[in-house]
Amino acid sequence: MKQIKVVGKQILSGEIEISGAKNSAVALLPAAILTTEAVIDNVPNISDIRALEDILNYLGADVYKEGSKLTINSQKLKNKPITEEFSSLLRASYYFMGAMLARFKEVTISLPGGCQIGDRPIDIHLNGFKKLGVKIKEENNTYVLKADKLIGADITLPFPSVGATINILLASVKAVGKTIIRNAAKEPEIGNLIDFLNSMGAKIKGKDTDVLEIEGSLLLNEGNISVISDRIEAGTYILAGVMTGKNLKIKNVNPNHLTSLINILKEMDADIKVYDNYIMASKSENLKPVSVKTEVYPGFPTDLQQPFTSLLLIVNGTSYIKETIYENRFQNIAYLKEMGADIEIVNDTLIIKGARELIGKEVVTSDLRAGAALILAALVAKGTTTIKEVKYVLRGYENIVSKLSAVHAKIVLEDV
Ligand code: UD1
Repeated sequence: MKQIKVVGKQILSGEIEISGAKNSAVALLPAAILTTEAVIDNVPNISDIRALEDILNYLGADVYKEGSKLTINSQKLKNKPITEEFSSLLRASYYFMGAMLARFKEVTISLPGGCQIGDRPIDIHLNGFKKLGVKIKEENNTYVLKADKLIGADITLPFPSVGATINILLASVKAVGKTIIRNAAKEPEIGNLIDFLNSMGAKIKGKDTDVLEIEGSLLLNEGNISVISDRIEAGTYILAGVMTGKNLKIKNVNPNHLTSLINILKEMDADIKVYDNYIMASKSENLKPVSVKTEVYPGFPTDLQQPFTSLLLIVNGTSYIKETIYENRFQNIAYLKEMGADIEIVNDTLIIKGARELIGKEVVTSDLRAGAALILAALVAKGTTTIKEVKYVLRGYENIVSKLSAVHAKIVLEDV
């Protein structure tokens, strides 16, 4: 088991370089099988990516690695069932539904894994596939999806689900005729995927809007893309800077993807300076309490809700966070309370009375962003915090320990 130990109250200074976005990369790797050869650059070195490489290898693709550049050759890809052994490795394994449908018009795949942050049904994905002409059978948590022919359709999503938008997009690229996805998710990671698919010769219009138009095409070229910078990783380190930084420079950031976080930090009087592709953050005195609600992009991201909660622990006054996307994304709270935080959960809302002294304790990570939140709290707590089950953190944050050590955090990763 891996654990992280943090000795709190250090001042962070220096530079942190942001990696490629996990949530983009986990869609781009499955998308690579829509063509014979694809090159994906700026891929983060995280365990979710290694899991996708395992699935690609299992299916018969050749994956070559050169630093952060992956070349995926899927000429010899076979339509094999993606069993639970592979599908449970990560949530994004379900992007092989859309990708394999596009490639073979059929796929057998077991339920995806991923963090337990709520119910996480996949009804919107499946209903979208049905509209494209896919027949679906489900038995013992395994789905068999099959279409004689994928046919373009007009699909309105009941909710702008990121995963469903990506999956339907993948399948529709090779459908006959035109598909329209209405009420589509607009997250920047979807734009990154659209650029990748268009580089292969797909005809997708409407990037960054909630109506996507896909003209199905059969012939695709070789694909090329660079993964965009990870806005959630960037947001996490910006919060670290505001909590305990001194001119902490967060590099390789697209501030346009972080507007909601930046606006709220400014409203709180946080000491941040925003430049074209980097952000400077420093420990801010007299931060104002706020009310925040998680929303779909461009609203405040649910993936930053838990890290942001840790910032609110040092703010004098009462703050509120309403979580509207996932009902079970408060598993960090019990541990923050053990560390001395005053937080009440009322239905979907956290009421945080800040500026209580935090003391290092032994805490356990339940999911990726909960782990990030506990590391942030540990950075400002008195004494040593031991964070167990950090495997969840390592699936989404590239080199988090060495990145934080390099800016003078006292943090170590241990195998116990
Ligand atoms: C993606 C991100 C995740 C982020 C989330 C919301 C990836 C790999 N993960 O997850 O980090 O927290 O977007 O920004 O990109 N829903 C349904 N039925 C469905 C699909 C979704 O009810 O078929 C619900 C979910 O339970 C949830 C909400 O819709 O309440 C949002 O889910 P969705 O946008 O699909 O998130 P993911 O793609 O799973």
